[in-house]
Amino acid sequence: MTITLFDTRTPLEPLRAALLERLEAVLANGHYVLGPELAAFESEFAAYLGVTHVIGVANGTDAITIALRALGIGPGDEVVLPSFTFYATAEAAVTAGARPVFCDVDHDTRNITVDTARAALTPRTRAIVAVDLFGCPAPVPELRELGLPVLEDAAQAAGAALGARKAGALGDAATISFYPSKNLGCFGDGGAVATDDDRVAELARALRFHGSRDKRNFEYVGYNSRLDELQAALLRVLLPQLDSWAGGRRAAAAAYHEAGLAEHVGVPVTPDDASPAWHLYVVTHARPDQLAASLSEQGVQARGYYRIPLHRQPAMAPYGGGVELPVTDELSRTNLAIPMSPVLGPEQARQVVAAIAAALA
Ligand SMILES: Cc1ncc(COP(=O)(O)O)c(C=O)c1O
Repeated sequence: MTITLFDTRTPLEPLRAALLERLEAVLANGHYVLGPELAAFESEFAAYLGVTHVIGVANGTDAITIALRALGIGPGDEVVLPSFTFYATAEAAVTAGARPVFCDVDHDTRNITVDTARAALTPRTRAIVAVDLFGCPAPVPELRELGLPVLEDAAQAAGAALGARKAGALGDAATISFYPSKNLGCFGDGGAVATDDDRVAELARALRFHGSRDKRNFEYVGYNSRLDELQAALLRVLLPQLDSWAGGRRAAAAAYHEAGLAEHVGVPVTPDDASPAWHLYVVTHARPDQLAASLSEQGVQARGYYRIPLHRQPAMAPYGGGVELPVTDELSRTNLAIPMSPVLGPEQARQVVAAIAAALA
């Protein structure tokens, strides 16, 4: 039997009846865009995160573009962000008109740090995008002490926390993705901007609707980027499960630890005050693709992520040329995601670790 990289199906099984009921209710109501389900989800998710405003948008990529613009970022501005992340983080900054400036990450947490961000600052830097990579919160409170707005890209980190604050509530604004495989995944594309700042929220709300506040006057060139009623209605069923799902992800990581994973491969280090919600559990090894091939023969899925880091992507050539990011280059060569889900139990964790041990024997 295969142990898959993700298991998006099993956690939803007990919720199927409730999901179908909400789907029926939306069809009966006939309101599909910017209606009561979205308004209710936005206030429930804001309460969950502990922020004042959540603005539902079409996906996590648009969320970053809209949040950056709402923070006042535009043409001519530099935005410091990691190169070791999904492409959307930098793409969204370019869409906002900004120039991404790539910084390195810490080898053990895989996240940007105050030192790596500081090394990329110039007089034109107007914001930092801190990605909570693989579901582990970046050191956002420390980054904010650099005195620039920090946008937390929490696409992978719903359900995580840093100290007493939830991931998604750490920056001047934050963005989330509800892509189906994410920690809080909907049934298609979806995303959100979260912030305590009334002005940023108001601007983000206008930008997601063509730059209009009243649907009559169009003040900005914005986007058509809303979280649909159907997705919002279904997310309202899933949100109450998020903490227990995040707990399941942490339990799976603990089971890997118990099974001796660190004796065979490099494992992620969790900062003392962080409570990660592992979206991906990513180990390191000198020959990760060889290891993945052997795991596949043993029925265990594994996959390397971001093998070509952003500063080396063709579309980022105008921004990435000449940048030296040694830790990013190393991690993009050596990382390997192994199975992770809210329902990955100790027995499966032992099987994965045994398969890794056999592959490396
Ligand atoms: C770190 C990161 N940022 C942004 C995104 C973009 O989210 P979406 O796919 O919802 O546009 C993703 C996920 O795909 C991501 O992993």
